[in-house]
Amino acid sequence: MSEAGPDLQVRVAVIYYSATGNVRGMARAVAEGAEGEGAEVRLRPVAELSEELRISADQYWGRHRSEVDEGPVARIEDLEWADGLAFGTPTRFGNVAAQLKVFLDLAGELWQQGKLIDKVATSFTSSQTSHGGQESTILALNNTLYHWGAIVLPLGYTVHEVFNGGGNPYGASFTSGHSVDGPDEETRLVARAQGARLARVAQAIRAARESGLLPAGKTALP
Ligand SMILES: Cc1cc2nc3c(=O)[nH]c(=O)nc-3n(C[C@H](O)[C@H](O)[C@H](O)COP(=O)(O)O)c2cc1C
Repeated sequence: MSEAGPDLQVRVAVIYYSATGNVRGMARAVAEGAEGEGAEVRLRPVAELSEELRISADQYWGRHRSEVDEGPVARIEDLEWADGLAFGTPTRFGNVAAQLKVFLDLAGELWQQGKLIDKVATSFTSSQTSHGGQESTILALNNTLYHWGAIVLPLGYTVHEVFNGGGNPYGASFTSGHSVDGPDEETRLVARAQGARLARVAQAIRAARESGLLPAGKTALP
């Protein structure tokens, strides 16, 4: 740390699952928001688990799959690397998509080592209908984050646009209908604001740790 403050750029990982592209569009906006605050960002989809044959039989799922096929997927190391974590999932029967859940379940070792303590973490979602389970999905996702000892960061009504872009203070939420074209501009704006807030708060926590104000996370496991 220098007199001017922490030397290191805050690190944000935006980790998501998206079958047809809506959550991917939101994830990009969250990443843009974090980058706008000077964060180093890793934008990563989790690995696909469904059979390729099943995916390609679905026009929109297959198209999206071929678009993201080449890039890097999220790794558990990304959780350790990041100061701030944003998780995105489509609403699946009011819950987290299995692909993202499997990724989260692989974090047991990091959890055991106390390495997820004080990560600042936030969640976002897309669902077909406005009452189709956006809140329940985000709350279900956040349950994992509480177990990690993460600092769960809600969106709140921190920017006025939340009132227009879904109105959900739990986290940016897109009501997609049958669209697979990604979120509208209002939702993108809210997602960007969520990413920016994540980067700012993660930076503050990082600075507190570097200055000794906040001790390094330690597990209390027996
Ligand atoms: C198996 C399955 C379950 C779903 N469950 C819900 C649901 O409970 N509520 C809802 O509103 N939409 C539900 N949807 C719709 C998706 O959440 C919605 O299309 C979302 O925008 C897809 O995001 P993506 O394009 O990133 O995959 C479901 C879709 C699938 C395939």
